[in-house]
Amino acid sequence: MGNISFDFTGRTAIVTGGARGIGLEIGRHLRASGAAVYLADIDEAAVGEAAAEIGATGARMDVSDSEDVERVVATAVEETGRLDIVVNNAGLLRDGVLWKTSDADWDLVQQVHLGGAFRLTRAAVPHFRAQSGGRVINVTSYSGLHGNVGQANYSAAKAGIIGFTKTAAKELARFGVTVNAISPNAETRMIASIPADKLAELATGIPLGRFAAPQEMCAAVGFLASEEAGYITGAVLPVDGGMSM
Ligand SMILES: NC(=O)c1ccc[n+]([C@@H]2O[C@H](COP(=O)([O-])OP(=O)(O)OC[C@H]3O[C@@H](n4cnc5c(N)ncnc54)[C@H](O)[C@@H]3O)[C@@H](O)[C@H]2O)c1
Repeated sequence: MGNISFDFTGRTAIVTGGARGIGLEIGRHLRASGAAVYLADIDEAAVGEAAAEIGATGARMDVSDSEDVERVVATAVEETGRLDIVVNNAGLLRDGVLWKTSDADWDLVQQVHLGGAFRLTRAAVPHFRAQSGGRVINVTSYSGLHGNVGQANYSAAKAGIIGFTKTAAKELARFGVTVNAISPNAETRMIASIPADKLAELATGIPLGRFAAPQEMCAAVGFLASEEAGYITGAVLPVDGGMSM
């Protein structure tokens, strides 16, 4: 990525779900913009390789496990002396119509998406407070904004992330912390799991006519993480080719 827009030199960022897809590209962008980056992912081998590739630190973290989350935050603060940016991007799908969705598939999706955003944000707060500033960028989805057949668990979690973003924005404003969300649309492993006919149908519903490359999510995240975006909080920014309007 050559398009560095903001300078994050001296800043520390944690990006969850950083082993691949959107998270890896966000990490690459923040790293190229000068930040010390911790890529955190449940896939330990893949996140180690990804981190080596972009000059970041790889960390095994299951975002549904509070101890894991606290440990990575503690390591980042210990090693760099600070924490400035958290990107709550980790995610997975357990699709199925709601009447066929098991308790396990319901719970897992809530725990990873919504619970993960909660746990890492909570762990970051003491450090943000101590520094009188910080940036939280959450990742929601079209499903969270509008619903999507076969994704009751995922749309509930992603809609929950929007509510969480707004409340966290209100609670943390007093500490100089902004909390925003993006709603992406990018060709990743997650999209690859959607059947081809469904994917073609989805693409026709995108005004810009295509899914983005995961790199195209980075500018929005870089902007929301920047000093310059300090007066923007509680916003949900679609980076989706117009799909959600
Ligand atoms: N790709 C899209 O078009 C799209 C659209 C809307 C929202 N999103 C959201 O963007 C985010 C990134 O998705 P992606 O498309 O890059 O998917 P991806 O599958 O390529 O990457 C997701 C990453 O999250 C990791 N992960 C899963 N469970 C985890 C856990 N418990 N703890 C830590 N890491 C975990 C995976 O190992 C993987 O590396 C997700 O939150 C997804 O819901 C993606």
